[in-house]
Order: sequence, then structure tokens, then C-alpha cells
Amino acid sequence: MASPQLKYLSLGVLVLQTTSLVLTMRYSRTLPWEGPRYLASSAVVSAELLKILACVLLVFKENGYSIQDLNMVLTQEIVKKHKEVLKLAIPSCIYTLQNNLLYVALSNLDAATYQVTYQLKILTTALFSISMLGRRLGAYQWLSLVILMAGVALVQWPTEVPAVPEEKQKQLSASSQLVGVLAVLVACVSSGFAGVYFEKILKETKQSVWLRNIQLGLFGLLFGLIGMFAYDGESVKTSGMFQGYNVLTWTVVVLQALGGLVIAAVIKYADNILKGFATSISIIISAVISFFWLQDFDPTRVLLPLYSCRNAFINSHERPA
Ligand code: C5P
Repeated sequence: MASPQLKYLSLGVLVLQTTSLVLTMRYSRTLPWEGPRYLASSAVVSAELLKILACVLLVFKENGYSIQDLNMVLTQEIVKKHKEVLKLAIPSCIYTLQNNLLYVALSNLDAATYQVTYQLKILTTALFSISMLGRRLGAYQWLSLVILMAGVALVQWPTEVPAVPEEKQKQLSASSQLVGVLAVLVACVSSGFAGVYFEKILKETKQSVWLRNIQLGLFGLLFGLIGMFAYDGESVKTSGMFQGYNVLTWTVVVLQALGGLVIAAVIKYADNILKGFATSISIIISAVISFFWLQDFDPTRVLLPLYSCRNAFINSHERPA
């Protein structure tokens, strides 16, 4: 397939993958469930394992389905070139942190709010692309960034808090919202940096994208395991790594692993900035599905700032009696 076709195909698959991952992840974290809920840190590890396996199969295909050649390439590129491999430890460590943060965010925010806020990564990606890759942005791209930030501000506009008796509950949900937003903001910086760093490595060297993904994934697996034992070690020891897994959990894991493959392809055939704009299309899809299916997104919230402006305008024009 020609490069431009691969570019649009990978961008299209990315929109589908992002929308389904966000909705399934959110649904899987909030669904009433008897027994222990699955450990997010374990889902990160499972996705990483699956991604490595898929990439090994892709390298196997690249080498004419020859076990001998596969073995040779893996030894040559992974065991012998440890300096090259070490370069990927940085984005990998950052991605692992980010992947864990996203579970924190989606446990505290509705799917649409999360999606819109996370699009701030387009801004961080643009800034990192300018500083690390020497890219330049056109007027339309800058304008899109401004519109995007306005969208984020609208969704994050505080809703009115009703008085007691739900006061306590509201305080809790407000602090949970803050935790969610903070997690997303840190993830935005990490996404921008790690994405551009990976793009730099991919475009400055000739190695296959799937091989690079295995190198990235190996560190991801290592950091993911460290994270899982650090945060959920006790729980893993008593109930196992796969406690609370159900079909939905496996769906999240597969979608997360698929995301790793699609994102690598998008970074190779398109670039990180286009990737950001493609995933923002999934905001609209997520908002519609979140409203109809999960029923946890209130579109009138987006209009609240407009009501505030209108009221301020009316008040300022009211004549004293
Ligand atoms: O939101 P963002 O686009 O930064 O998400 C990137 C996701 O893709 C992360 O989950 C990261 O682990 C994964 N990834 C990957 N392989 C790559 C690049 C990213 O698995 N080569």
C-alpha cells in the first residue's frame, strides 16, 4: 500500500480505536461489579505484553515468516544494540506513567470531559514538535489550537453546587474531578514529549517501526511490572494479577494494545500533530455516545458560561428601580 493511503488508513483506525478505548475504559471502571474490580496497573502490563507479541508477529512477517531470520533480527537489534535500545527507556517510562494516569483520570471524570481535556496534548505536542523537531505551524493550525483550548475551558466550567444535604457528596465529587483533571494535565505533557521523542527516533533511523515498538514495549513491560508491584503488590499476591478481569477488561486490554500499534503507524506515516487532530474527532463521537449510552455527560454544562455571560449582560443593562 502507498504511503498516503497508509497515512489516512492509520489515522482513520486511530479515531475508531480512541473512541472505543475511552468509552470501554470508562464503562469498565464505573460498571457496578460484584467482587474485586480489576487492577488498572495489571491491565497496563497485559496490554504491553499483548503489544509486544503482536509486534514480534509483524517482524516475523517482515522477515518472510522465517524463524531463523526473526531470531537473528531480534538478537541483532535488541540484544546487541543495547545503546539504541536504551534510548527508548525514556519515552517508555513516561508512557507507562501516562497509561496509569489515564485510568486515574477515567475513574474520576466522565468520558467526554476526559476526552476534551486530554486534547490539550495537541498543544503540548505542537510545542515539543517546534522545539525538538524544528517544525513550523501554519495559521490554521494555531487557530485550531485556540479553538481547542476554548472547548476545554467550556467543558471544565464549574457547575453550580446545590446546598445541603448533598453538600458533602458534592465536595467529594469536586475533589475527585480535580484529581481527574490533574491526572489528565500531567498526561498531556507526557504524551506530547514521549510522542515527539519517539517520532524523532523513528524518523532519524532506519529501523522498522515494529522493531522500535518491541524495544519500547520491553521497557514498558518492565516499568509496568514495577508499577504494578509497587502499587498493587499486596493485592496481586493475595488474589492474583488477573483478579476482577471480565470480557470488558480484556476488551480494554486489546484496544490499548491495538492503540500502541496504530499510534506507532500514525507517527511513522503521518506525524504527531496530525495524530492529535485525528483523535480530537473522537471527542464528538465520545460525547454523543457518552450522552446516549453512558448517560454521564450533560451537554447543557457546555452552555453554562454562555448563560453566565448573558445574565451578566442583562444585569449590567438593568435600570435601577
Ligand atoms: O495519548 P497518546 O497518543 O500519547 O497515547 C499514546 C499511547 O500509545 C500510550 O498508551 C503509549 O503507551 C502507546 N504507544 C505505544 N507504542 C508507540 C507509541 C505509543 O504503545 N510506539
